[in-house]
Amino acid sequence: MHFTDRRERRPITQGLRDGVLEDLPEIALIAQEELRAKTIEAWAYALSGTGFDRIDDIPGEANPGMLRLRRGSQAVHLRSVTRIALAIADDFAATFPEARIERDIVIAGGLLHDVGKAWEFDPENLARWRADPSQAGLPALRHPVYGAHICLAVGLPEEIVHIALSHSHEGDFQQRSLEALIIHRADHPWWSIAGACGLLDAESGVILATRKITPRAPRG
Ligand SMILES: [Fe+2]
Repeated sequence: MHFTDRRERRPITQGLRDGVLEDLPEIALIAQEELRAKTIEAWAYALSGTGFDRIDDIPGEANPGMLRLRRGSQAVHLRSVTRIALAIADDFAATFPEARIERDIVIAGGLLHDVGKAWEFDPENLARWRADPSQAGLPALRHPVYGAHICLAVGLPEEIVHIALSHSHEGDFQQRSLEALIIHRADHPWWSIAGACGLLDAESGVILATRKITPRAPRG
């Protein structure tokens, strides 16, 4: 048996928090101070339980070994999805002032939707799961589920926990909140568009073909 609570968790240092803010500068756009602080804390807590020091060290992949960016880390994906989601929210809010969209939840939710990936992509975890998927599964928990755990552990509001849990396929079994729907719609096609732009590695071609996507050759 593998007891996850017996893995040595590194202390959450200020250096770890500073790295989170450097890798995700959009955190500064969160207006509420407590939400801003807990967004940083969630990522620092997530990293402290893995071998990664920075979000920028996590590979830019949709799932481990699947749809891999040729260039750019997980931070690139998180920031881009957040800005796209924010553009959707801000456009609707500007066009329809009567629409009530929680801007801070969109920003924090976008930056945290994949917070479970630190654990899901951790090389030590992947080696253990891949050695014998019959033992605890491959992965033991997908990143939406583990991400929800992280968000709960640091005391984030349930609106954010819900986004972490429901942004991907897991959310198909729920009714998504408005903000979760926006993140889902910004996140879901992101990898397909990256593939169509020719930004993913050659092995991604098989999956892209099933989506009827032909990568366009990028410049250079
Ligand atoms: Fe994502």
